[in-house]
Amino acid sequence: MRRHILLTAVALTGINPVYGATSDNAIRSVPQYILDYAPLVWLHSQETYMPSDIQQQVINTVPKINWTSIEGVQSPLDLNNLDTLNGLGNASVYLTSHDGIEANPQPAWFRGITPDQDGRLGNGTGSAIIIADRGNGTVDAFYFYFYAFNKGDKVLKMEFGDHIGDWEHNMIRFKNGNPTAIWYSQHASGQAFTYHAVEKEGKRPYAFSGNGTHANYATSGQHDHAIPGINLPVGFVMDYTDRGRVWDPTLNAYFYTYDSNTTKFEAVNSKDPVAWLNFNGKWGDDQPPGEPEIFGEAKNVAGPNGPKFKGLGRKLVCPSKPCIVLPFRIWSGNSTE
Ligand SMILES: *[C@@H]1O[C@H](CO)[C@@H](O)[C@H](O)[C@H]1NC(C)=O
Ligand SMILES: *[C@@H]1O[C@H](CO)[C@@H](O)[C@H](O)[C@H]1NC(C)=O
Ligand SMILES: *[C@@H]1O[C@H](CO)[C@@H](O)[C@H](O)[C@H]1NC(C)=O
Ligand SMILES: *[C@@H]1O[C@H](CO)[C@@H](O)[C@H](O)[C@H]1NC(C)=O
Ligand SMILES: *[C@@H]1O[C@H](CO)[C@@H](O)[C@H](O)[C@H]1NC(C)=O
Ligand SMILES: *[C@@H]1O[C@H](CO)[C@@H](O)[C@H](O)[C@H]1NC(C)=O
Repeated sequence: MRRHILLTAVALTGINPVYGATSDNAIRSVPQYILDYAPLVWLHSQETYMPSDIQQQVINTVPKINWTSIEGVQSPLDLNNLDTLNGLGNASVYLTSHDGIEANPQPAWFRGITPDQDGRLGNGTGSAIIIADRGNGTVDAFYFYFYAFNKGDKVLKMEFGDHIGDWEHNMIRFKNGNPTAIWYSQHASGQAFTYHAVEKEGKRPYAFSGNGTHANYATSGQHDHAIPGINLPVGFVMDYTDRGRVWDPTLNAYFYTYDSNTTKFEAVNSKDPVAWLNFNGKWGDDQPPGEPEIFGEAKNVAGPNGPKFKGLGRKLVCPSKPCIVLPFRIWSGNSTE
């Protein structure tokens, strides 16, 4: 794989994906260490639901509230005006798929874009890199990963937690340009490690993405996770990770800064769309009406909200307390490798 040389190649030549944003300008003005230490994502070898173009989600959906289309939506709706939906229903707006979560066969866009051998997402932009300067030499870089579809885990042969739209992230905390710690989002929470503790390729930490759920782990293997709030008689749900296929989220990304004092986003270059980051609604269908629930959990659940709801103003490496930054990584799962 030629991933190392690629960053340089991108910086020099730029690429012009239709929805893409990795322009010369962006790469040159993002601090080099944000790229040098960016995570590489290992997608599972049997992953079906690949990273996806963010703008495509808007194209493949229509905003609805309680399954009813909204009046007065701008046309076309895109990443440059998505926040206008805040005035038309705010957090109760769901970008609702034309196809429905139970579409059979599933539409191709649920499956996203398979990264090529260099880890590039073709012409799609599936990541947003948000840089939050905390002052005094501390910078938090959030690497957000977008997937059009989340396939839930199976418990007792029943499937729970499918949803349309899936936002995951790593956050790396830098002190004076040096990485100190890294956060891995997993379902409603996640894990933090020292930068030193995690496996890397050169300087770049690995994030192992759970098959279907895209929860991020520091190790390859099987991961037991308890879903907060779930109370099953057999209390385990499994995520599986392995070294299937590498996705390099920096190759086609939008780059932003975030000021936690003002909660304002700005594009690092002048081209990347900003409005979508202020959208307060959800990135997929609402939970279908009458969806049967077992122990309070359903097969199909509502889509998530976006990056601004993932603790961008956090003081600790984790979005909430308790926050244990592990100096080793054995604890994160039973490695099979
Ligand atoms: C991974 O997910 C795919 C599609 O959802 C499924 O067919 C496959 O069995 C899963 N593999 C593992 C190891 O869970
Ligand atoms: C949603 O729509 C259904 C059916 O039209 C209606 O019965 C229900 O009250 C609505 N819910 C809300 C929260 O508006
Ligand atoms: C809109 O939604 C956001 C996010 O949930 C919330 O913080 C805000 O108070 C809401 N605004 C209004 C006017 O309801
Ligand atoms: C992106 O590339 C795919 C595969 O080559 C192609 O089918 C699709 O039309 C392209 N999308 C755009 C918007 O150009
Ligand atoms: C700023 O950083 C310096 C050196 O790392 C440290 O000694 C100082 O306490 C920090 N000040 C604040 C306000 O955090
Ligand atoms: C946010 O406000 C604090 C306190 O006023 C200040 O020290 C800090 O520099 C500000 N941060 C940014 C990014 O402007």
